[in-house]
This record gives sequence, structure tokens and C-alpha cells, in this order.
Amino acid sequence: MLLIKAAILSFALSAANAHMILRNPPSFGFIGNKLSTKPDVDLNAPISKAQFPCKGYHKDPDRGAGKSVATWAAGSTQSFSLAGGAPHGGGSCQVSLSYDNGETFRVLKSFIGNCPSADTGREYSFPIPRDAASGAAIFAWTWYNRIGNRELYMGCAAVTITHGGSGLNSSFPKIFVANIGEQCTTVANAVLEFPNPGAVVERSGEVALKPEGAGCV
Ligand SMILES: *[C@@H]1O[C@H](CO)[C@@H](O)[C@H](O)[C@H]1NC(C)=O
Repeated sequence: MLLIKAAILSFALSAANAHMILRNPPSFGFIGNKLSTKPDVDLNAPISKAQFPCKGYHKDPDRGAGKSVATWAAGSTQSFSLAGGAPHGGGSCQVSLSYDNGETFRVLKSFIGNCPSADTGREYSFPIPRDAASGAAIFAWTWYNRIGNRELYMGCAAVTITHGGSGLNSSFPKIFVANIGEQCTTVANAVLEFPNPGAVVERSGEVALKPEGAGCV
């Protein structure tokens, strides 16, 4: 079983080297998530509208739903990492938290440009706000690739927040959603400038363009 798991993992990480997976915290359905009993070998693929959010796995205990893989204190700095090879020339990413089982995600940080970066070992740091409420939450990583089709990639993980505050208010913007059937799409071969990135932003310095179409928020 372990050998088979290792073989699937190496396949998932190599053959699929055009795409990326949320490695840590280990996402729902990731072969490296010990609390997920049903690995998804297509986890690196972009998601469709029907698969938003989290490919639906945030509601599937077999994929690790409800089984916390990380405990983070409000006010601390945490990091995430990704698995996979060539990341479509980078792009822009967001990390968000949901406290209502995936109905609403509020953004903790936006990375504009060089996300993912070519350095596959990179740790991407982000703050857990002091206001974040204690309890179970869903952490989401979303990615808008720079090169290639206009797509949305999303990986999510069950996490636990401790030492929390009164909750994330509207000063933490909602997660940006485009390219999955909305009129809003990101510009091809360009780094995405999130319309509302929130207060915590890390920029690569690359030129970044706002998305186009109606309803880009
Ligand atoms: C929302 O939270 C932020 C961060 O704690 C705070 O500065 C701001 O005053 C809050 N805004 C409202 C409308 O409560």
C-alpha cells in the first residue's frame, strides 16, 4: 500500500508538472494528506464552476473534510507550499479562510506575480489576523495562471484556528472568482491584478492587469 501510494505520489508530482497542488497544509484529496482516504490523482487540474469551491471536497469526509490538518493561532504567521513542476509562468494567488463551510471565503493575503514561483520549495508566508475567530475553518489557495488557458486552480484544507478574535469583517475582501463561467475573466499572458486584494499584498514587481468583463469584484 505504501509503495503504491509512493508511486501515485511521484506520478501526481511529475506527470502533472504543468499544474500545482496545495502540498502544505495538505489539501483535501491530496495523496500526502493522511486524513484523506480517497486520493485524487487529478487534483492538480483547474476547477470548473460546478467544482467551486474546493472541488466539493470540503464536504466529503473521504477527502478529509472536517479533519483538521493544521492548527494556527490568530496573530501568528504561517506558510503554505505547493507541489508540482512548471507553474505556467506564475501568476497571482490568494489565500483565504471560510468559517461557513465554503459559502464565504475572506482573503488573508494576495500574491500578485510570481505565484507560484519557479522555486518549488518556496514557502509562501501569510498572517493569520488577530480577528480570525477560533474554531474549524477551511483554508483555500486559489491561483490564476499567467500563461496558458484562462483557468482557476483551487486547493483547500481543513484547519483549526486558536486564540481567536471576533471574526473577519468586511475589511477582509471576499475571494476573487473568475474564469469559471462568470463574465469576468483574467487577461491572457498577464499577471492578474486582483480588483480587491485586501490589506496584505506581496508583489513581484511584474506588470499586473485587472480582469476584464462584467462583475469583476
Ligand atoms: C474590521 O476589522 C479591522 C481589523 O481589525 C478594523 O480595523 C476595522 O475597524 C473593522 N471594521 C469594521 C467596519 O468593523
